[in-house]
Amino acid sequence: MNFKGKDIISLRDFKKEEIEYILQKASEVKEGRHSNSLKGKVLASLFFEPSTRTRLSFEAAMTLLGGNFFGIADPQSSSTQKGETLKDTIKTISGYCDVIAIRHPFEGAARASADVTEIPIINAGDGSNQHPTQTLLDLYTIKEQFGSLDGLNIGLLGDLKYGRTVHSLSMALSFYNVKLFMISPELLKMPIHYAQYLENKGIKYTETQNIFDVGQDLDILYVTRIQRERFGDLQEYEKVAGSYKINLEVLDKLNKKIKIMHPLPRVDEIDDSVDKTDNAIYFEQAHNGIPVRQAILGLVTGAIQ
Ligand code: CP
Repeated sequence: MNFKGKDIISLRDFKKEEIEYILQKASEVKEGRHSNSLKGKVLASLFFEPSTRTRLSFEAAMTLLGGNFFGIADPQSSSTQKGETLKDTIKTISGYCDVIAIRHPFEGAARASADVTEIPIINAGDGSNQHPTQTLLDLYTIKEQFGSLDGLNIGLLGDLKYGRTVHSLSMALSFYNVKLFMISPELLKMPIHYAQYLENKGIKYTETQNIFDVGQDLDILYVTRIQRERFGDLQEYEKVAGSYKINLEVLDKLNKKIKIMHPLPRVDEIDDSVDKTDNAIYFEQAHNGIPVRQAILGLVTGAIQ
């Protein structure tokens, strides 16, 4: 399968076999194959929104396979402050590197970037829209834990309206034989077009506001932060802030074998006391960002086949 030059923008663009191929390459990288494969390659990591895991794991992924990176971590220090358009920024930086990872608050910013350059663009999160590399590491983590992505009952808890991770993840899971459980306050329900997408793909899902309605049936609970920064009206945010929290008492009432995932960062939706349980896998999940992003960088630059 040839990924050289491909953009990674949205799960909408993927075929199942492409997802499987990336996960296979991530396993190979994790086993120590493909060392130094990115030697001579340069990543531009352009982050116009805050990030810890995505930016740093992209940069670490590049370095660990022998490549180099430069980037924008603080948009205040770039020429966007002087009024430069995103398109001009991308056209310019394309001449300095082999691949660009971009995070931007505007939905569609990664697609717009890809339209003005021949080098691969990787969407590292565009507004509330998509976060495809997060999804690939989520799938990788699930496969690592369960051996397969099929036959699982997966609960998505929290901000399903603004959470780009659950938008991408639910689309990816539609390739597999899973049952989805959407657990959120009414105000934070999954947008209708994502729900429609799943229905069109024949994916069964249940909606509820109460984790205890479904908690005994779940293999995985994927918890998300309420995306405070996406609310136009902070009074609306206040209505839902703190409306769910996974702590030991709640965990005790769920399936004993449940695995708790979270893209992180968390605010207060998972209590620290859950971290030491066998159920918590969110830090392993975050660490899988390295092999998965190494595989993606290798594939789109043509360094890994
Ligand atoms: N999961 C994730 O995207 O984390 P960051 O915002 O820290 O990159």
